[in-house]
Order: sequence, then structure tokens, then C-alpha cells
Amino acid sequence: MSAEPSPALARLQVRCNDALVGLLGHGNSEFAADAGPHLVRLFEASAYALTRGGKRVRPLLVYAAAAAVDAAALDADEGSVSGLDYVACAAEMVHAYSLVHDDLPAMDDDDLRRGQPTCHIAFDEATAILVGDGLQARALELLTDAPDVPAAVRLEMVRSLSAAAGLRGMVGGQAIDIGAVDQAITADHLETMHALKTGALIRASVALGALAAGASEEQQAALDDYADAIGLAFQVCDDILDATSDSETLGKRAGADEALHKPTYVSTLGLDAARDKAEALLADAQAALQPFGGSAALLREIADFIVHRLR
Ligand code: IPE
Ligand code: IPE
Ligand code: MG
Ligand code: MG
Ligand code: MG
Repeated sequence: MSAEPSPALARLQVRCNDALVGLLGHGNSEFAADAGPHLVRLFEASAYALTRGGKRVRPLLVYAAAAAVDAAALDADEGSVSGLDYVACAAEMVHAYSLVHDDLPAMDDDDLRRGQPTCHIAFDEATAILVGDGLQARALELLTDAPDVPAAVRLEMVRSLSAAAGLRGMVGGQAIDIGAVDQAITADHLETMHALKTGALIRASVALGALAAGASEEQQAALDDYADAIGLAFQVCDDILDATSDSETLGKRAGADEALHKPTYVSTLGLDAARDKAEALLADAQAALQPFGGSAALLREIADFIVHRLR
């Protein structure tokens, strides 16, 4: 049981952080400088939202799923940015965009994220909306540009990530979330909401890593089962942490769900049942990895971290 990422996962977090800075294009952007101060500020706001803090769970899933399929998938030349890094960063960019928009006054109206003022507070609302728009578009651009990945695979990755992010995925889940304020909803409805708003991108992250590494249909199906379970577990634990932790540990406002009258696993099932649900989903996730043997070690560590993390 681990509340912190293992050393192997921590190394991949660093790898992702380095790649994100380069792939956002911030800092070396002559284009932004030439276009004037407003665009420079948009790049700054994008870097603020993307590169400071965050557990990088979705990129870790990209790397780990690829490693489960192909043991050589994580090999990269020292200092170079690989196709897999492009894919991992694409998943994180969609996630970072979703957080910036989730925090807006019209959504959860939060002022703290990753231990610092939310993007619309540090900059302004219009900038935060544009940061989200820009990060999502850049994510899809990265998938189309991923070096050394065959064109057919890149196309399938664009389909997978855009479907997961869109109306039938994350954005659809956010719409249900907003509509569920002040409602007592059934456990089934809650599960659908969580599976969409959080599960869809987690599932896509696993699928992207698998696709990049050339997974067979059988491998993809097993990884889908794993991702379904940890995707839901992730949001169940987010709900538990919101109810039980403090803002300093989380780097975001604790107690926000109750204050906003959001139905959660804790408000719907109670804390003990929510914890039991997370553990049951963890067991499902680990069982789904059985066919992979030792090559799924990183995926096992991530599942454990998702359910036992403290923030
Ligand atoms: C928070 O995600 C939003 C949800 C989908 C529950 P994370 O807990 O992964 O946030 P960061 O990336 O570590 O800040
Ligand atoms: C956010 O869920 C899900 C997405 C951003 C798509 P929450 O609203 O519970 O996330 P936090 O708690 O603000 O990080
Ligand atoms: Mg929300
Ligand atoms: Mg929120
Ligand atoms: Mg939450």
C-alpha cells in the first residue's frame, strides 16, 4: 500500500514534466514574442496551468500501459523527446485544460489549484477560457505530430482522445455534474457521471499508451477493464479526499463538494461504503492485469497509488 508514487513512477513524472515544458512551446516561442504582449501572456498562463504541480497520473498511465505491452517502450535517447512523450503530454494537456475550466466561476468557482491561485484568479476569466481551449487543441496537434508513430496509429489516438474528451466523455460528465447540484441521485447515475467526467480520460490514457506500443485487441480489452476500474476509483477517492482531507494537503479547497451541494460517493453511499468501493475497484483493476505478469508492474503501482494517495 503506497501513498506516494514509487521511485520508478517518480522518474516518469520528471520525464513528463521536462517534456511538457518543451512541447507547450513556452519560453522559446519567437512566434508569441513577435505577436505581442497579449499572446506572451496567454503562453504564460498556459505554462502556469500546465507545468506547476499535479500528480501526472494520466501521462503515467500512458507510459505504464505502453510498458505493459512492450518492455522497450520506455527506452528513449537521453535528452530527446520520444513519440510516447508526445502522447503522454497530450493526455496531461487535456487534463490540465479540464481543471482550468472546472475551476471557473460558472463551474466549481474554485480559487486554489495545485497549491496556487486558479488560472482565472492569477490571470483573468477570458484568459483561463482561452488557456483551456489552447491546451486541448495543442494536445490533438501533439498526437498528430508524435514522432516514429505510424500514421494509422496516430489517427486512432486522435479519435480515442477526442472522443474521451468530448460530449460523450469528459465534457458530457461535467454537464451531468453541473446539473446534479442539489439533487439526490441514484448510485447508478453517480457512477455514470464519474465514469464520464473522470473515467473517460483515464481510460483513454491507458488506451493511448497501449496503441502507441502496438497492443493486440486482447491486450487492449484487458487494459480497458483495468482502466474502467481505476477510472471510477480515481473519482471515488477524489470525493473521499474532498470530504476527509485539508486544503493544504490537497492543494485545492477541501470540503468544496459539500459546500457546492454536489452529490458524491461520500454523500450518496457514506464514507465507509465509498472506501470499500475504492478497494473493490482496486482489486478489479489488479485482477484485469493478470495476463500481463511482471510487465504490468507500473500499472499495478499506479492503481495502488490512485486508491491510497493522500492528495
Ligand atoms: C483532479 O485530478 C480532477 C479530477 C479529475 C478528479 P488530479 O487529482 O489528477 O489532479 P492533479 O493533476 O494531480 O492536479
Ligand atoms: C473534475 O472533478 C473533473 C474534471 C475536471 C473533468 P472535480 O470537480 O471533483 O475535480 P476537483 O475536485 O475540482 O479537482
Ligand atoms: Mg467539478
Ligand atoms: Mg472541481
Ligand atoms: Mg473533486
